[in-house]
Amino acid sequence: MLVRIPSRNHRFDSRLRQAGVATPSLFRSALLGNGLLNGPSGQVEYAVYDCHLRDGLIRATETGEEPRILAVLVKSLQDQLHFNPNFHLPVVARSRHNSSLRGSNLPPSQRVTVMIKGNRVSDHPLYRDDQLTLQIVEKYHTPTYVFDEKTVRMNAREIMNSIAYRPFHPRYACKALTIGAILNIVREEGFWIDASSINEVDRALRAGFKAAEIYYTGEGATLEVYSTLVQRGILVNCTSIDQIRLLGRAGATRCSLRLNPGEGHGANHKTNTGGPSSKHGIYFTQIDDARSVAAENGIKVVGVHSHIGSGTDLSRWLFIKDKTLEMAKRFPDLEIVNLGGGFPVIYDDDKDDGMPLEGWGNALSASMDEFSRQIGRKVDLQIEPGRFLVAGSGVLLAEAQAVKTTDPDERSAGYNFVIVNTGLNHNIRPSLYGAFHPIRFVPRDGVSRAVSKPYVVAGYLCESGDVFTVTAENDGTLAPRVFPEVRVGDIMVMAGVGAYSHSMKSEYNSMNLPASILIEESGHLRVIERRGTLDDLMRRELEAYDDTSS
Ligand SMILES: Cc1ncc(COP(=O)(O)O)c(C=O)c1O
Repeated sequence: MLVRIPSRNHRFDSRLRQAGVATPSLFRSALLGNGLLNGPSGQVEYAVYDCHLRDGLIRATETGEEPRILAVLVKSLQDQLHFNPNFHLPVVARSRHNSSLRGSNLPPSQRVTVMIKGNRVSDHPLYRDDQLTLQIVEKYHTPTYVFDEKTVRMNAREIMNSIAYRPFHPRYACKALTIGAILNIVREEGFWIDASSINEVDRALRAGFKAAEIYYTGEGATLEVYSTLVQRGILVNCTSIDQIRLLGRAGATRCSLRLNPGEGHGANHKTNTGGPSSKHGIYFTQIDDARSVAAENGIKVVGVHSHIGSGTDLSRWLFIKDKTLEMAKRFPDLEIVNLGGGFPVIYDDDKDDGMPLEGWGNALSASMDEFSRQIGRKVDLQIEPGRFLVAGSGVLLAEAQAVKTTDPDERSAGYNFVIVNTGLNHNIRPSLYGAFHPIRFVPRDGVSRAVSKPYVVAGYLCESGDVFTVTAENDGTLAPRVFPEVRVGDIMVMAGVGAYSHSMKSEYNSMNLPASILIEESGHLRVIERRGTLDDLMRRELEAYDDTSS
């Protein structure tokens, strides 16, 4: 977020005072002198950052909300630089949307390096608010997912606003998080839906989406499902030639085709959905066959789709977008190009890069303009991000239930384990992908602990792979993290669980499913899904019946 303020401004100064700065004018000059505030004469401009000092540089992350961030900015600078208006550090400033340098008119010796990263999962409001965390736990208990409405809306708007090309219809890949309250928010933000199953279609319809706004991409297919979709007027995205035949039998006259462009890219090999080793889509060398089968079945191919992976490198995404557009030219009835999702989110501040929305949006819009010029008409541009909208919107709260140690052996110095009352049943990503999730512990007694130690954070399941702090290699190697001393009863806040955690949850070990709370835009807390019960777990068993007579 970039805020313009006059260089002398009482309102700003009073906000600084509220944020704990006794001498606002000195503080302003310190920021100005270090390139954090910089702008045309008479105006200063500051991006609102959450800062931390690493390797002698200030790393700052642009985040959402001005007053909150201002307070964090002030605190970080005061704590970490022992606030001295004359400090000088080297600077490189990058904004979330724009890679141009800020403060670059200052001599290099006076610049502060400001690395700005957007869509950081640790920016969830609860991740830094111990009091609210404890209040929520007191009222709703653990384990509990807590989702933040503002984060979803902000991410949705950023996608919407970064593309100038029209017509443009972003779809929310609702497999990422399918709770009705979230679907509603996304609908209000003007997104359409990418559904992967008939139940996702129904959940979207119940959330108020129109059939024409839903697009169906499912790897498996039955005549019954296809017939229902066709009757409802939902566009089916066929991912195999067999599906085109089946769709013909279901009476469709239009379809889209998911094509495998021959290469893909994902945050890891399990989330790569393109190339010869991917099961997804119709391989690009079989386009002629796909076209003939569609024609034989009286189906017009009106859409071409590719989705190359999740957590993709954006330069690969843009490269494969060109391949998809080339393939799309082979379909004369084309109305829609859907380029999939997979946009990156920052789980690990030290390793992950954010999404360069502005550069990406400009490149995509320019390609679409050029594509329209080449084919002589405009087609509807669609994309289908899931993770980008919701990953940072969710945290998982759990309670430390045991802290124990193991002795050293020839391979390790032994470990400190914290066992929390959640596990891979509520966030499977670390065990499935070696995924990193930021974790912190809130002391239950509200008193911070002086001594820090390395801990392995493990779940409560009877399953040895039920560990949250593992290496990215995904071979189950433990990766302890240093936390202030953790005691039984402390609350674990795990960030980044908005995408593919709640939606991949299970009842393994017959554990009850967690409750889900929404922090509404107003700050009001709403239970959007109640905690599971033993009756929920056993309902289908209790309703089972003996059909030997039939
Ligand atoms: C076809 C398709 N579209 C969109 C997505 C969403 O990906 P992401 O959540 O990484 O944006 C996926 C994820 O697997 C997918 O398979």
